[in-house]
Amino acid sequence: MPTENAYMKFDLLQKDAHSKARAGKITTDHGVIETPIFMPVGTVASVKGVHQRELKEEINPDIILGNTYHLYLRPQTEILEKAGGLHKFMNWDRNILTDSGGYQVYSLSANRKIKEEGVKFKSHIDGSYHFFTPENVMEIQRTIGADIIMAFDECTPYPCDYRYAQRSMKMTHRWLDRCINHLEKVPVKYGYNQAFFPIVQGSTYKDLRMQSAEYIANSNQVGNAIGGLSVGEPAEEMYAMTEVVCDILPEDKPRYLMGVGTPINILENIALGVDMFDCVMPTRNARNGMLFTANGTINIKNKKWEDDFSPLDEMGITFVDTEYTKAYLRHLFAANEYLGKQIATIHNLGFYMWLVREARKHIIAGDFRVWKEMMVKQMSQRL
Ligand code: GUN
Repeated sequence: MPTENAYMKFDLLQKDAHSKARAGKITTDHGVIETPIFMPVGTVASVKGVHQRELKEEINPDIILGNTYHLYLRPQTEILEKAGGLHKFMNWDRNILTDSGGYQVYSLSANRKIKEEGVKFKSHIDGSYHFFTPENVMEIQRTIGADIIMAFDECTPYPCDYRYAQRSMKMTHRWLDRCINHLEKVPVKYGYNQAFFPIVQGSTYKDLRMQSAEYIANSNQVGNAIGGLSVGEPAEEMYAMTEVVCDILPEDKPRYLMGVGTPINILENIALGVDMFDCVMPTRNARNGMLFTANGTINIKNKKWEDDFSPLDEMGITFVDTEYTKAYLRHLFAANEYLGKQIATIHNLGFYMWLVREARKHIIAGDFRVWKEMMVKQMSQRL
């Protein structure tokens, strides 16, 4: 049954009979997002190394991601407001989601202090001190102007002792209430709506994850997210947590698993009922010479590719796959040419988008589980 609300529409189009995978469609004021979806990460208003035109025409995602922490520090919220919001500033007219800064602040570890009121942190750019609260993070996200904005939360590290995980989760829930209360008071700025997603925490403890999923579900927002995973725990623990949480989160709203993951992690989590993903892996690993393919991963810097004049990827998902050879890309990495990183990034993002689109097709066709198992086997290889 489609659900309708003021901010965002989610149509659940097909449920897989042999797993918990779903195919759906999210509609916002910036267009349609077909799920399952992978959202390329554009932390500082740029998907590193890729022109917006290439992103649109070659990779073609319905939605990309930006980060509140980074955008707040640079170019700064004021500049984004003067530009008329992030879409205009970066010339991107499709959907954008902004993360709240909860994860980036967690990554700062030594350079931040978490209190009930909020988080004091030191800028990685100039060492200046700043304070994020659930309230000001909602205001900043209103000004950035993404289509989907995230609750301010604490992402716990792994491993995390039970008492800390429990205390942190409860604080994340209190912060969620503060986010919701405050958002009601701050109107949207640019004439289109913004959907707000709360985030489930609870580390790797099943009982905490269940409590958190119930709290988040009861907050009755238009979509829900799962955080605190892919922080170093074994994949099996991640899947166990996703499963208990997805079984509690409402079926008629999209589910977003934050910061995940490898191509295999993505397929396994789709099978557990996740609809949305983001991860720096395809872009960051590309810059280090790692290519993801349907037959496994390639380290293009390896000497073995030196005289391999076969196409980058026989599948030819994006133009770089057929227009360049492995030997040429290896040479660009050896010579430390910018173009090498660009080509690898376009390849990896093209592959990630292909993977989720193919997953969607197989969910709709009814053979997702068989396809997923074949792909997981194939992608486990190192070439
Ligand atoms: N990105 C990856 N994990 C998380 C998380 O737990 N919280 C937030 N806000 N962002 C994330």
